[in-house]
Amino acid sequence: SPIVIAIDGTSASGKSTNARLVARALGYVYVDTGAMYRTLAWYCLKLGVDVKDPEAVARVCRRWKTELRCVDGQVRLLVDGYYPEREIRTAEVSAAVPYVAAVPAVRRWMKRKQRECIRFGNLVMEGRDIGTNVFPETEFKYYLDASLEERHRRRAAEGVQEDLAARDQRDSQRKVAPLMVPLGARVINTSGMTPEQTSALILEDIRQ
Ligand code: CDP
Repeated sequence: SPIVIAIDGTSASGKSTNARLVARALGYVYVDTGAMYRTLAWYCLKLGVDVKDPEAVARVCRRWKTELRCVDGQVRLLVDGYYPEREIRTAEVSAAVPYVAAVPAVRRWMKRKQRECIRFGNLVMEGRDIGTNVFPETEFKYYLDASLEERHRRRAAEGVQEDLAARDQRDSQRKVAPLMVPLGARVINTSGMTPEQTSALILEDIRQ
């Protein structure tokens, strides 16, 4: 059965960059589960649904016609055939996602979709609960973190200003699948490290 490398961690800890580098080096398919939650949040906002109303969000999710597709080695969750690549990166969507992500029905739905991704082959999947909840059986688990200062610096360099601490807190304190270090995960503090150094560390660990 396909190999899954789970990379979890806090916001702006370097998950996306490193997961991409590791996937490219191994020829595995890259899955950004944050983008999947962002896409649902964006869709709710587009429909004018209150993201703080769990019932309403669950209803949107249940009726959602979506499709998983693998394009250039990356999995995309499409909305009516469309991938809202830029739209899901706005501050408005970032602020809305943790509410959507805290709805139990949404997490069950996402877990099912994320496990379906193995039909595309070996995976590098990044998120908040991949090692704990989505693929707890995998032997390859990594948890990335960095100082709050460094994470704010990284986002600022991307032109994004955001209260990362507030989002982390919401992600860590929710009742379903909260952000935490998976049992048996290798924890990497990426403060002061380049993506090349971090991904090299992960690749070395995998190849052992
Ligand atoms: O890239 P960034 O760290 O800003 O965030 P992301 O990975 O795109 O995830 C955005 C939000 O989606 C997180 O703050 C979580 O609320 C939620 N999320 C989650 O709950 N579970 C996942 N597996 C991935 C994301």
